Amino acid sequence: MRMYADLAPWYPLITPLQDYAEEAAWYRGPMREVLGPGRHRLLELGCGARHNAHHLADDFDLTLVDPSPQMLDLARANCPGATLVQGDMRDLRLGRTFDAVFLHDAISYMLSRADLRAAMQTAWEHLRPGGVAVLVPDDLADDFAPGTDCGGSDGPDGRSLRYLEWSWRHPDLPERIVVDYTLVVREGDGPVRVLAVDRHEQGLFPRETWLGLLAETGFQVQERLQPYEGRNISIFVARRPG
Ligand SMILES: C[S@@+](CC[C@H](N)C(=O)[O-])C[C@H]1O[C@@H](n2cnc3c(N)ncnc32)[C@H](O)[C@@H]1O
Repeated sequence: MRMYADLAPWYPLITPLQDYAEEAAWYRGPMREVLGPGRHRLLELGCGARHNAHHLADDFDLTLVDPSPQMLDLARANCPGATLVQGDMRDLRLGRTFDAVFLHDAISYMLSRADLRAAMQTAWEHLRPGGVAVLVPDDLADDFAPGTDCGGSDGPDGRSLRYLEWSWRHPDLPERIVVDYTLVVREGDGPVRVLAVDRHEQGLFPRETWLGLLAETGFQVQERLQPYEGRNISIFVARRPG
């Protein structure tokens, strides 16, 4: 995925940091309900440019993991205080535990049930008893509808980017979707040009699979539904029993 590699310098224009303040509150709430007041230790698996984590930094000491060195560079710029680790959510083992583990949209890149289960096991291994994992897939098979979205922004440095995000079911694989991003940019007074068409493949699993795999891992799990733009976002709140 070039968006997280050579195109990463454009990433802040795809999703500006300030857009995430409201969303981060959806995840802070359930973590606080389980953990109570005070400052806690949070591990995010697949932090990207840490847009949500940026808004959680007042409440949590952050350890942020991503496989992409370019995304970790962006995360470093957004949060000088966080501990950054290069790693994969399927097999990371830091040898220490946290009060909370956060798996946001990055978990949608788990393409098989085995990978999804492995990411859940990583969350389990890094949680203290009584800790909480919050998992937020982009889509569930129960609710997925193919469609398009668009967005982008203008940067302070004269660069502008707009994108078309086009999501559709994989023709051959029932538990997978394809998300094609077309990125169009302009620099200063220069011409508008197509920067790239970047294909992402994501896993698409039914709610029952998510709940079943979390229970199999050992979690006590609740699904919360967060209304957003005419649909519900599923937030799985998974407690490691104390
Ligand atoms: C959309 S970004 C995450 C944005 C983040 N949720 C935020 O709030 O800013 C998706 C990230 O998932 C990461 N990713 C993809 N596969 C991964 C894996 N196997 N383990 C951990 N992270 C992964 C990518 O490198 C990318 O940085």
